[in-house]
Amino acid sequence: MKANAYGHGAVAVSRALAQAGVTLLGVATLAEGIQLREAGIDAGVIVMGPLVQGEMPDLAAHRLTPVIYSEDFALDLARVLRDQTVPYPVHVEVETGMGRLGVDQDRLLNLLQAPAFKGPLRLEGLMSHFADADSDDPSYTQSQLAQFTGLLERIRRAGVTVPLAHVANTAGILRFPASHLDAVRPGIGLYGYHHSTNQEADVPLRPVLSLLTQIVQVRTIRPGETVSYNRTFRASRATRVGVLPIGYADGYNRLLSNKGTVLIGGKRAPVVGRVCMDMTMVDVTDVPEAQVGADVALIGEQGAERISAVDLARWQGTIPYEVLCAIGPRVRRLHIY
Ligand SMILES: Cc1ncc(COP(=O)(O)O)c(C=O)c1O
Repeated sequence: MKANAYGHGAVAVSRALAQAGVTLLGVATLAEGIQLREAGIDAGVIVMGPLVQGEMPDLAAHRLTPVIYSEDFALDLARVLRDQTVPYPVHVEVETGMGRLGVDQDRLLNLLQAPAFKGPLRLEGLMSHFADADSDDPSYTQSQLAQFTGLLERIRRAGVTVPLAHVANTAGILRFPASHLDAVRPGIGLYGYHHSTNQEADVPLRPVLSLLTQIVQVRTIRPGETVSYNRTFRASRATRVGVLPIGYADGYNRLLSNKGTVLIGGKRAPVVGRVCMDMTMVDVTDVPEAQVGADVALIGEQGAERISAVDLARWQGTIPYEVLCAIGPRVRRLHIY
């Protein structure tokens, strides 16, 4: 559910998933976890990103589950929770090759056998994260998985109980069935996208989000006239220009200037000129349906035409994750499920 459920609206998506039987949700930050609790979501919530010491009392007050990634973190948390009567559930992340958060493998058993885990903390889960599960070469992921399962075996043999071992992101789920273990952590796949475009043929997924707006003004400009900041679009013919009330502050990236395409009346209309903070202009000369009030899909389907976050990502030189996460708070979300 991190990054506002990849832009989809964390509270509504969490409710839908809880209804569908999901018992454990993942967020990246304390504030994201608190948002779910304040909305009345009762499922387990793991905060997978880093936490600083000052955040620990709030974490406990909202029954959020931290992911411990160092011995210092465990000690600090144990201190904050020393008066708890019931041991507090935590997950631990071990580093297997992501090169990001995590306890070093040779410190893991030490950590799990430390006094903190005999007192206020209870190990509920052990996790790691794949760095390269979406690449063509499976060897790095296989090595990460082998390290993780090897560690699991070793610590279980040493008497540590690990109720939930989890490592698989979307690419892991789809491409490495052996990585499913006790729980999985799908992100992008939940929203109908593949981690990489060359996986699309294997498992059909359907994007769940459309990004829609409508035309607020249509004006015809003469040849030689220009559109938007710095006049980067100059009309070569009489051009009908539609104005859309969405801009880069809403997540419609400025790199789509003179590059993006939108759908109106089932036809493609190119973005002309610079995308502004709050508005974007499109060339609707060849789209007679383009009148004030006409529906516009920036991501979505109209008739036989379709624009997905993968297209936007290609036009602006990024990945669909970033396109989705960037959809800003000003965009009203309507959830249908
Ligand atoms: C720790 C962790 N688990 C799972 C995911 C989900 O990854 P994906 O969206 O590729 O499924 C992420 C996202 O980056 C993550 O950081």
